[in-house]
Amino acid sequence: MRELVVIEGDGISHEVIPAAVRVLQSLLPDLTLHHRPAGWDYFNQVGRSIDAETVELARQCGAVLAGAANSPSYPVEGYHSPIVRLRRELGTHANIRPTSYLPVPTARPGIDLIVVRENTEDVYASPEELTTGGAMVAKHITTQASERIAHTAFMMAIQSQRRRVTVIHKANVLPQTDGLFRRVAFEVATQYGALEVDDLLVDTAAYWMVKDPTRFDVILTLNQYGDILSDMAAAWGGGLGFAPALNLGEGVALAEPVHGTAPDIAGQGLANPTAAILSAAMLLRYHWHLPELADRIERAIVETLEAKLFTADIVGPRSSLSTHAYTDEIIKRL
Ligand code: NAI
Ligand code: MG
Repeated sequence: MRELVVIEGDGISHEVIPAAVRVLQSLLPDLTLHHRPAGWDYFNQVGRSIDAETVELARQCGAVLAGAANSPSYPVEGYHSPIVRLRRELGTHANIRPTSYLPVPTARPGIDLIVVRENTEDVYASPEELTTGGAMVAKHITTQASERIAHTAFMMAIQSQRRRVTVIHKANVLPQTDGLFRRVAFEVATQYGALEVDDLLVDTAAYWMVKDPTRFDVILTLNQYGDILSDMAAAWGGGLGFAPALNLGEGVALAEPVHGTAPDIAGQGLANPTAAILSAAMLLRYHWHLPELADRIERAIVETLEAKLFTADIVGPRSSLSTHAYTDEIIKRL
């Protein structure tokens, strides 16, 4: 029996996550759903952003679909992003972010890449500290985590019939931390002979991501660089409304669209649910090992877009479909 914890979060998460759940339910009618609240609004009601019981339930079920939560850009006593907490407590060591061409005017033809981002270390995993006259954070990189993410990237490259893995780092300036990540990646690569493996400095990679993103196939990188490069790639995939992500651990997966809560359009039926729906498809492909169902979702999305049925982020609010009506069109084509 498959079980899924559904966390809507804040803002447009209340629109796009239910859309993705409707798509999943039409393919898996027996799926057991556990809806749980989390996020900024929940924090303001009860004083915590997510319940410990929700984290435990997520561990037991092994599968979570979560929408973004509001996180203020200033410190708030007691508030932590529920997604960051879930990623940490579930031990999801890999963050997988694919970008493939979709037939929308905002997408770049030929783009087809996967960012495999280490998800447990780097500056995001260390507490920030105040110092005299400033603040600091530590960058901690381990051999174990670097090996694990390298295996994930190379295995994913082979499973998805890709040819090349590009290791992205800044080892010229950070020879100990990024240098370790790079060295381990090339060591692990020797076990995957069929793949071509190269590397790029992160600033050069950013240049190429703007100039010609079609040169990338699989990207293996550290936490912070992967965060930034995958958003750049998302711009070529048609925009944030189309960018899915999956956090993978040992027997556990957390699917989440890359975008945030979009407060500027929340509650108006303007949100594009494709990223959330594609994130659900990643659960099917990589966690439940049902690639044929994931293919059906991806084909239905392509057919919907080919029929020029778009949400407001693509054609503006006047000639677009609402989040709900667009989702109906996808479900019709499943
Ligand atoms: P955002 O991704 O929410 O919005 C950026 C722009 O893209 C906005 O103009 C928005 O309308 C548009 N957009 C995003 N997703 C869309 C969709 N599905 N359909 C149509 N348009 C879409 O990023 P922003 O504004 O920087 O952050 C807003 C809030 O979201 C902040 O509180 C931030 O902390 C939070 N956030 C949470 C994340 C998470 O919990 N995983 C991830 C990113 C942001
Ligand atoms: Mg990000």
